[in-house]
Parts: sequence; structure tokens; C-alpha cells
Amino acid sequence: MAHAGIIGIGSYLPEKVLTNQDLEEIVETSDEWIRTRTGMRERHIAAPDQSASDLAFIAAQAALETAGIAADQLDAVVLATVCPDYLFPSTACVLQDKLGAKKAGAFDLSAGCAGFASALSVADAYIKSGMMENILVVGVEVLSRVTNWEDRNTCVLFGDGAGAAVVSAVDEEGLLADFIKADGSGGPFLIQPAGGSANPATHETVDKKMHYVHMSGQDVFKSAVRAMVEGARAVLEQAGFQSEDIDLLVPHQANIRIIEAVRKRLDVPPERAFVNIERQANTSAATIPICLDEAYRSGRLNRGDLVCTTTFGAGFAWAANLLRWII
Ligand code: ACO
Repeated sequence: MAHAGIIGIGSYLPEKVLTNQDLEEIVETSDEWIRTRTGMRERHIAAPDQSASDLAFIAAQAALETAGIAADQLDAVVLATVCPDYLFPSTACVLQDKLGAKKAGAFDLSAGCAGFASALSVADAYIKSGMMENILVVGVEVLSRVTNWEDRNTCVLFGDGAGAAVVSAVDEEGLLADFIKADGSGGPFLIQPAGGSANPATHETVDKKMHYVHMSGQDVFKSAVRAMVEGARAVLEQAGFQSEDIDLLVPHQANIRIIEAVRKRLDVPPERAFVNIERQANTSAATIPICLDEAYRSGRLNRGDLVCTTTFGAGFAWAANLLRWII
């Protein structure tokens, strides 16, 4: 069986930074509340003329460059997002065209904040089956477009960004184990209620602000910790490792209290857990590849390191990966 591994990584954060102080001008909140309840200080916001595919394009180019391969060598583009350019065509197809990935198939994958980790499992399986050799896996969000800027419960939590990885057939072991799971009964706790076939866009749905993120924070919080620990334990067990073997835990960045609870339950010391929530807030499906790129470029992630990702988001859907860093 062929091995699969990440051979290229890239990310992009829009220029504009929105600080907690800026948010104090928009809704009734405070820097102190946001920092102590979430760990966030600032987040990046896309320019009005930037869509998900624009952000993804820049991240993808960086990933291809690190990988040293051209877009026309890609067999597939798998793009995870909850903020697509359009409901259809897929943002993956828009990106495939922008990149000139002429021989690639392309599709979007929707698994909320677990999108990138789920997409990585798809790429891993395609490559290990022998069906494909090079796959671009993307996580991108422009959550600022679906945020209700009058709702302090949600508008402080999210940021925009994109990350991409090139997953290829390689000689050494890269991706070691993947895990995905869902509990659709949690759907109503984190939902964009209108715009799809259940509640198509009408004047009424717009007036009721049903095209924005609606979230029951505490219900999401409770499930997130349990699920992210389950995911990490599952991939470790599949590949025959213990949590003490992890060189870098890369958890989804939704809330510093969730990250800390997961880290402690897994018994991973703070210096082995990657945290950038302070500067980027929750970028949903883009979070994991942005973290991997940042960790790699800053020297936190080195060749040979054992990396464990673990994520949880809308669906509820959760996913984890265990991989050997081979760049
Ligand atoms: N500023 C000031 N006060 C606020 C704010 C704010 N921005 N937001 C809420 N509050 C208030 C509430 O109104 C409430 O006031 P009340 O007691 O007078 O009613 C009080 O603060 C406490 O609210 P709680 O909801 O109990 O606060 P909690 O400690 O649970 O923190 C939070 C809320 C940060 C949302 C937390 O529950 C959380 O992080 N949940 C998980 C979110 C998550 O994981 N999302 C990821 C998925 S995203 C995706 O998949 C796209």
C-alpha cells in the first residue's frame, strides 16, 4: 500500500485586523470578557472584494510552492468550508479553475470546524488506495459574511482565513491514522438556518437574520471537549501510540478553555500544544492548516515530529488525524 503524507503547506490571513477594542465599538462587550471567556484578542477580516476562493487561492499557491509541484499535477482539489463562494458551483471548482489544475477533480466538503481534518482523511484514503497521487486539501472560511454583527454571543468569536496542504503519495509514512464521527442531533446548536432548501432565501428569512450563524455556545462547548478527546485517543490507538508520544497537538481553536481542557485530559504538556487563538480567533475549517503552516514556518514543527490534530464543529461533526511531519 502506498504511503500518504503532507509535502506542502500554506496559509493566508486577510490584511484587516479586528481587535477586541474595535468590537467594543460595535456591540456591548469588553476586551476583558472576550479574553477571559475565549482567549481571543484579535481576528482577521476579509476585504469586501475577497471571497473564499480568493483566500484559498493564495494559500494553495503557497502550499504548491512548498511542495515543489505545479497545479496541473494535482489529481484532486478537496475544499472544506461552511462559507462557499456560492451554494453551487463548489468553491473547489472555482479554485481548480483559478489555479489551472487542469486534470484535477474538485469538490467541497462540509463538516464545520472539522472540515479540514475530514478532508485530510479523504485525501489519505484516495492516495493509499492507489487511485491518486497528488491532492490539494484546503480549509477556508469567510465567516465575517455570515456573522450577525449585532449578536455579541457570536460576532466576537470568528475570523477569516485559509490554509492548504498538498497530500501526496510518498515513500515514507506520513499520515498514520484518521478518525471521523458525527452526531446530527446536535445540528440545531450551531446552524445557519436559512439559504438552503429547508428555508430558502425570502424577505422574511433575511428580516429574521436567519442567514447568519446561530449558536448555543454552552451546548457546543460541552460536546466539543468530550469529542476532541475521543478523536485524539482514537487516532493514537489506531496507530499504536500514546499521548506522551505526541510532539505537537494541534487542536481546533474555538475557545482557549476548550483547548486547555482537551490538552489536560490528554495529558499533553502546554509546550506541546499549538495555540494561536489569541491572534486569529476561530477560523473554523481553516484553523488546522493555518496552525500547521504557522508551526512549520516558525520552527515549532520539524521533520519527524508526531502531530495530532483534533477538531469539532457544526453537525455536530468531529475528526482527528495522526501524522508524521515529513517536510
Ligand atoms: N461580551 C460580553 N458578554 C457576553 C458576550 C460578549 N461578547 N457574549 C455573551 N455574553 C454574556 C451572555 O449574554 C451571558 O450573560 P447573561 O448571564 O446576562 O445572560 C454571559 O455573558 C455568559 O454567557 P455564556 O454563554 O454562559 O458564556 P460562556 O462562558 O458559555 O462562553 C462562549 C460563551 C465563549 C460562546 C462559549 O460557550 C464557547 O466558546 N462555546 C463554544 C463555541 C464553539 O466551540 N464554537 C465552535 C464551532 S464554530 C463552527 O463550527 C462554525
